[in-house]
Amino acid sequence: MEQGLRVAAAVSEARQWDRLMELAKIGAIPGDGVNRQALTALDRAARRLAIGWAEAAGATVTVDEAANLWFRLEGRDPSAAPVITGSHMDSQPAGGRFDGIYGVVAGLEVLSALRDSGVTLERPLEVVAWTNEEGSRFSPGCMGSMAWAGTKPVSAFAEIADAEGVTFGAALAEHLQAEADLPRRPLGGKAHAYIEAHIEQGPTLESEGLAIGIVTGIQGSRWFTVTITGASAHAGTTPVSLRRDALQAAMRAIAALNALTADPTDVLRFTVGSFLAEPGSSNSVAGRVRFTIDLRHPDDALLMEKGNAITALVQEAAYPCTAEIEERFTAAPLSFDTGILDGIEQATQALGLSSLRMPSGAFHDAQLVARAVPSAMIFVPSRDGISHNPAEFTSSSQLAAGTRALAAALVRQAA
Ligand code: GLV
Ligand code: MN
Ligand code: MN
Repeated sequence: MEQGLRVAAAVSEARQWDRLMELAKIGAIPGDGVNRQALTALDRAARRLAIGWAEAAGATVTVDEAANLWFRLEGRDPSAAPVITGSHMDSQPAGGRFDGIYGVVAGLEVLSALRDSGVTLERPLEVVAWTNEEGSRFSPGCMGSMAWAGTKPVSAFAEIADAEGVTFGAALAEHLQAEADLPRRPLGGKAHAYIEAHIEQGPTLESEGLAIGIVTGIQGSRWFTVTITGASAHAGTTPVSLRRDALQAAMRAIAALNALTADPTDVLRFTVGSFLAEPGSSNSVAGRVRFTIDLRHPDDALLMEKGNAITALVQEAAYPCTAEIEERFTAAPLSFDTGILDGIEQATQALGLSSLRMPSGAFHDAQLVARAVPSAMIFVPSRDGISHNPAEFTSSSQLAAGTRALAAALVRQAA
């Protein structure tokens, strides 16, 4: 632990905060928020800043075919499996300054702290920025980590289009062209451990007055896209009895889904976050509606049962319209590696930081990476539990405490 404490002591609260605030300017939106979508020019500008900081810390930079961006600091044994940390740099459309980007900047801060403390690790340490975690430009999220962990090949995402009709395949090709100066590395590979730092995005740590969440696991998620097809018709002349109104059908379907997912214990989470009616004109009956479903629960059997009931329920409620339901994303509930969790707990104790073992309600790249590598996560508090909102906030000192815990936990894995 002694080396870990030395590196933790070299973590600079001010440097980390300044980097986060510099990055927050790239894609800034009113109210202190950020809109930085995956594989856009803004994403690339943010990545260039990170590349500069990583190189200054002595790391080498590579990119893989899913556009995951890697920073590597060699250890004494270059052939040893690396220890990895990181998160994502893309944001929600009305996102905050910390979701994802904190985990990347914390990793960069550990690289800088290693250089400043003069500590050399046995294993290589790699910091990664995973591509398209949020899934807000290209659905689903976690594409980069899925591709890296072998859950799906990158080619499986190629035809998925954003709201402007640009496919992931085209955006990825353009992006890799813009980063053609960076050496390529193969997708995948062996690693010794993965630890991701992230803001909690919920109220628990703040309400309990605690510094660090030691994340025991992540609940399961299933994403669906529903397309309801009726017939567009004149709003003034078409008798209601003759309509096939896709918007009314969608409302019946959502009412049925609310009934299916009603949970007095508030553990099952059901969200319709995107809803689009076409042709989108006051005096036309909607001929087509598309909406998304985000369903989450920590118990796999229950998540399967509820999710598997969706298609029949929506099709029945949509009649006389037709409904097509496509499942876009499935992440089973996951428990993190107990050995790494114990290591994080020892690190927090040695640093005198209060902590709590807690599950994650949000999904993260770690949920996918954990299929290939022993993994765990560290949370820092979120003010008022707010996230996916410009008002998202964690103080500079809370972020630095998380990075110190991360540094000590990583050194423990890599020493
Ligand atoms: C991650 O952004 C999630 O939706 O859980
Ligand atoms: Mn995130
Ligand atoms: Mn997010």
